[in-house]
Amino acid sequence: MADAIRILITVAEHADPRLVEQALEGDPSLEVVGFADYLDDWREFLEQPADIVVVVCAAGDESGTHMVDRAVKHRPDRPVVVMTESSPNGFLRSAFEAGADDVITLPQSPGEIAFTLEKVIARRKGLAVPGKAAAPLIAVLGPKGGTGKTLIATNLSVALAQRDANVVLVDLDLQFGDIGLALGLSPERTMYDLMKAGPPFDHEKLDRHLIKHSSGVKVLIAPTRPDQASAVSIDYLRDIYASLRTMCDAVIVDTPPGFTPEVIATIDVSAEICMVGMLDSLSLKNTKLGLETLDLMGYDTDRVSLVLNRADSRVGITPDDVSTIVGRAPDVSIPSDREIPRSINEGTPIVAAKQQSGAAKAFRELADRYAKTPVPKPEPLPSSSSGVRSLIGRRR
Ligand SMILES: Nc1ncnc2c1ncn2[C@@H]1O[C@H](COP(=O)(O)OP(=O)(O)OP(=O)(O)O)[C@@H](O)[C@H]1O
Ligand SMILES: [Mg+2]
Repeated sequence: MADAIRILITVAEHADPRLVEQALEGDPSLEVVGFADYLDDWREFLEQPADIVVVVCAAGDESGTHMVDRAVKHRPDRPVVVMTESSPNGFLRSAFEAGADDVITLPQSPGEIAFTLEKVIARRKGLAVPGKAAAPLIAVLGPKGGTGKTLIATNLSVALAQRDANVVLVDLDLQFGDIGLALGLSPERTMYDLMKAGPPFDHEKLDRHLIKHSSGVKVLIAPTRPDQASAVSIDYLRDIYASLRTMCDAVIVDTPPGFTPEVIATIDVSAEICMVGMLDSLSLKNTKLGLETLDLMGYDTDRVSLVLNRADSRVGITPDDVSTIVGRAPDVSIPSDREIPRSINEGTPIVAAKQQSGAAKAFRELADRYAKTPVPKPEPLPSSSSGVRSLIGRRR
């Protein structure tokens, strides 16, 4: 026998809880794993593992559509169904607008209800990759501007894509994001358009807003104008991350300098952090502060890779000085290369444009930390790799 459908039931303000008790009674394929009324602690309630959320509504009950909205936003990948005794004009529309996957109008037998719930779950699974765990999110951080975060985020993404990983790159530099430029992509659709479209952030909608680079990396481009940045809501961002993580093998996030609220929200859900510093005392001081801040936030610093950019610059600071200032040695060092500005201007990251260069090798070394496969020979690049599997092994 197939596993029972695990259901979370919430009852809207004016609905009668007995409705749902009678409706589901006696069907062994339905297992109620959580029950809450409108006043219960939402977040904790919705955290519970379940296959589907059922919102029981009285006709036209606004609190019901509000509950649908919360459930959808909290876990965009989990379907939500409304159960009601009658659906007057306009109610169906507001339920679907809030993000409901279906509306069950009672009375119906428990068997019929089970069939509808199964159908909704199957439909959702058709969008997701069956059995796929959430992909790791890797945040590229650097407290100081201009240290090479965008360079590293783009090259890391392409280096992982060269190992056949499906990578989504998010440009979180909401005011001055330049990933589109660095990859030669035109901003036909951006994060601003996605925010305007609003939830539910299902795979289809997200995919429509990603722009594909020739390397295979899919990019969520930052808003094109600084004034559009305020349209990006942190709640939406969390939902977007949750959905993206079920759509690919790795989500890489390029960030603006500093610990802005959206950067903190990103750190909260990241599996790994790539902290970027440069070889000058101001940048190194800020890198140290950045690492200390992560520690204060309770972030496990074992999950932080320290990347030293322009590591070969002759500026009177030795690698030993770096360890002394920052308190740890860099995990990966990227040399300066005059091909880098050229590769940025041409929209082709150096890891693809100059595969033999020292910089490309360093980016592959960085990708190794996440893909855990041997460094591939520059040419020819492998057409398939087990690296993607080991990415999954590192997921939280
Ligand atoms: N290793 C390098 N070799 C040569 N040039 C480099 C190197 N690293 C960075 N640069 C140059 O420095 C510029 C800034 O790099 P990048 O945009 O990646 O920094 P950033 O940390 O993303 O900056 P911001 O904080 O403004 O977002 C790049 O346009 C590039 O020309
Ligand atoms: Mg940048």
